Amino acid sequence: MSALEQGNAAPYPVATATDARATLPTTLPTTLPVARCEALTKVYGDGEARVVALDGVSVKFHPGQFTAIMGPSGSGKSTLMHVMAGLDAPTYGRAWIGDAELSGLGDKGLTRLRRDRIGFIFQAFNLVPTLSALENITLPMDIAGRKPDQAWLDQVIDTVGLRPRLSHRPAELSGGQQQRVACARALASRPDIVFADEPTGNLDSRTGAEILGFLQSSARTLGQTIVMVTHDPVAASYADRVVFLADGRIVDEIDSPTADRVLERMKSFDGTELTDRNGAA
Ligand SMILES: Nc1ncnc2c1ncn2[C@@H]1O[C@H](COP(=O)(O)OP(=O)(O)OP(=O)(O)O)[C@@H](O)[C@H]1O
Ligand SMILES: [Mg+2]
Repeated sequence: MSALEQGNAAPYPVATATDARATLPTTLPTTLPVARCEALTKVYGDGEARVVALDGVSVKFHPGQFTAIMGPSGSGKSTLMHVMAGLDAPTYGRAWIGDAELSGLGDKGLTRLRRDRIGFIFQAFNLVPTLSALENITLPMDIAGRKPDQAWLDQVIDTVGLRPRLSHRPAELSGGQQQRVACARALASRPDIVFADEPTGNLDSRTGAEILGFLQSSARTLGQTIVMVTHDPVAASYADRVVFLADGRIVDEIDSPTADRVLERMKSFDGTELTDRNGAA
């Protein structure tokens, strides 16, 4: 039985008073956002190949808030996550993690910020092929010279159901298992913010639900801030808020989403979905 199925027992170590984030309210617009961006624009290529992937996006992610990002394929979801996580530079506009403006950090500062404060679950899992599942999970902390919190690490590993696969290399794991390693890696060091690009896209519905429940509990109980891209209205319903992107712009937002309301909203974007945003206007 998974940790999340054990009824009322908290599926992770209960937060203590020393865990500063646990004392933060879930949504308090007056507090400093964990991450935010202003007028973020990202243009790829030029001439015929020019693509405006992000077109003036401004958004804030508050402490403990679990946000889902939705939108048609090519609407800029991954680009937004990459730029906000300091993995890619914007063409115009600015992004902050806490009070650190990303363009003001040098390469070293950016690397340190990504390592210490950000967890990223990539759309392609980005596991290191020569390392075992466990080594992949603890890699960011090993690089930082930090010892993992063993109780938390155990909880993460059990929630994603990887215990029997810890010594396997990525090539010896199924796609879904690799995705679970990527999820565990992002959460293991309890970063300020987790950016997850379709973290349940390759999982069966039971494992997907466990990971979503785990992300939701991390946000609600421990104040973990999470931004998750998904195409699935049910996955989005685990979030506190859904931000809709189309053609590189934020076109809508709903709070306390249900799967039905998200689906309803997606239907109203069907027109957008059928448009090839990179084709001639
Ligand atoms: N490195 C790149 N060079 C050129 N164009 C790019 C690059 N990366 C992304 N794009 C383009 O930018 C646009 C937004 O891409 P992005 O990957 O952010 O979309 P997405 O919303 O994540 O889509 P999906 O749901 O398919 O993952 C797309 O039109 C894509 O082709
Ligand atoms: Mg994407």
